[in-house]
Amino acid sequence: MMLEGAVLNQLQKVLTQRVEEKIPLAYLLNEAWFGGLPFYVNDKVIIPRSPIAELIKNHFMALLKSDPKMILDLCCGSGCIGLASLMEFPSAKVVLADLSEDALQVVAVNIEKHHLNRRSLIKQSDLFEGLKGLEGSFDLIISNPPYVGEKEYESLPEEYKHEPSMALISEQNGLKLPIEILKQAADYLSEDGMLILGGG
Ligand SMILES: C[S@@+](CC[C@H](N)C(=O)[O-])C[C@H]1O[C@@H](n2cnc3c(N)ncnc32)[C@H](O)[C@@H]1O
Repeated sequence: MMLEGAVLNQLQKVLTQRVEEKIPLAYLLNEAWFGGLPFYVNDKVIIPRSPIAELIKNHFMALLKSDPKMILDLCCGSGCIGLASLMEFPSAKVVLADLSEDALQVVAVNIEKHHLNRRSLIKQSDLFEGLKGLEGSFDLIISNPPYVGEKEYESLPEEYKHEPSMALISEQNGLKLPIEILKQAADYLSEDGMLILGGG
């Protein structure tokens, strides 16, 4: 097959960005797949890759006593975790919270993409700070927070440096944000609510 000039030029440009500048392919294509679903991504969010996808696809196995009605995706990035969870639980609603306004713009694109407007609420929030009034509301809180220590961050492959550092780095050797979530999550869970705190 012969590639036409313009297509060939475009392909060469993408290859150079990938190979020489180490830009991850998902940013070059503005697409990443998570839990069997396509998500819009740009360099304001990390590329979805959390193993939580497996839990979602397996209906959280036997971890949940019943299907959650209210879900919180805390530190939501692209919104992949919360939105994939909505696909698994058709009568659930989700609050998608992140500190980054840029990330929340990506979330809005993904809500539209998957026609989930009526079941999704976006909140800008520094962990639980912006969620006051929602204490006791969530049957399921899922969070993949930043958990990389500053030293470890320096040793990551170049590709990671194209991701927002605030999505990766957490003080105290990576533990500051996860510990804060562990401290506060119980206040926001419903009676039989479950916190899934993961990495990846
Ligand atoms: C590891 S990324 C996870 C993104 C997404 N959940 C995923 O799995 O692809 C962590 C996210 O936490 C957000 N974040 C960092 N500090 C935060 C804070 N104090 N409060 C809320 N979100 C925060 C970042 O903007 C980033 O989107």
